[in-house]
Amino acid sequence: MNGSLVVVDDVAKAFAQLVADQANLKPAKPFSLAFSGGSTARDCYQELSRSASTAIDWSIVTGWWGDERCVPLIDIDSNFRLVKEALLDLIEPLAAVHPMQSEITDPALAYEELLRASPPIDLIHLGLGPDGHTASLFPDSDALDSPKGRLVVQNRDPLSNNPHERLTFTFEAIAQCTTVVVTVAGSAKTDALHRVLDGDLSAPATHLTGTNVIWLVDNAAMGARTSR
Ligand code: 6PG
Repeated sequence: MNGSLVVVDDVAKAFAQLVADQANLKPAKPFSLAFSGGSTARDCYQELSRSASTAIDWSIVTGWWGDERCVPLIDIDSNFRLVKEALLDLIEPLAAVHPMQSEITDPALAYEELLRASPPIDLIHLGLGPDGHTASLFPDSDALDSPKGRLVVQNRDPLSNNPHERLTFTFEAIAQCTTVVVTVAGSAKTDALHRVLDGDLSAPATHLTGTNVIWLVDNAAMGARTSR
């Protein structure tokens, strides 16, 4: 596993504190954050809206997405809608938000061009799926072997365990972010987490690299593994 493992009692609270600490570095400077999807991420953003809503100057924060489902942004399965409802609707406006627009021509390349025209993302938030995926980088999927230089690609889960065609950062794009924070909560993730800790390369999340990779995991996720 690349990065540092931090076992915490409450992943959402630890995430909110970490974001507040990083966003409030002095002197104040613009801060960019790439959001994740998933229920763990939703818990993190709800906590962020509760405990850090005033601790962070949202007017200098720019929001990105590390992956998205290819559905309308108002769709119940949209990661944009998840973040809007859990955080954006509850805090002061951000400086800018860049949803992944899947309904335009060549959406992956369009988002990639937007990324290239912007400073590196300060912090990307990722989750871990029970199958070992992160963002929308699924096991045995094409995006795991994206051409060098690609930052955003379309992808889908070949095993159909995860719905929808996706847009996702590539490992290369993730590695270019200054800080990578992976939040893992609950016993349903124990096997996937231990596959990553053991360096199992069949788990896509094992391939995560970056300058500063932080795994925020709770005791339930660390728990007693069930499979060998
Ligand atoms: C998505 C997410 C995905 C998620 C993991 C964990 O679009 O679904 O980006 O990578 O973070 O599947 O999701 P849970 O926290 O719901 O288990």
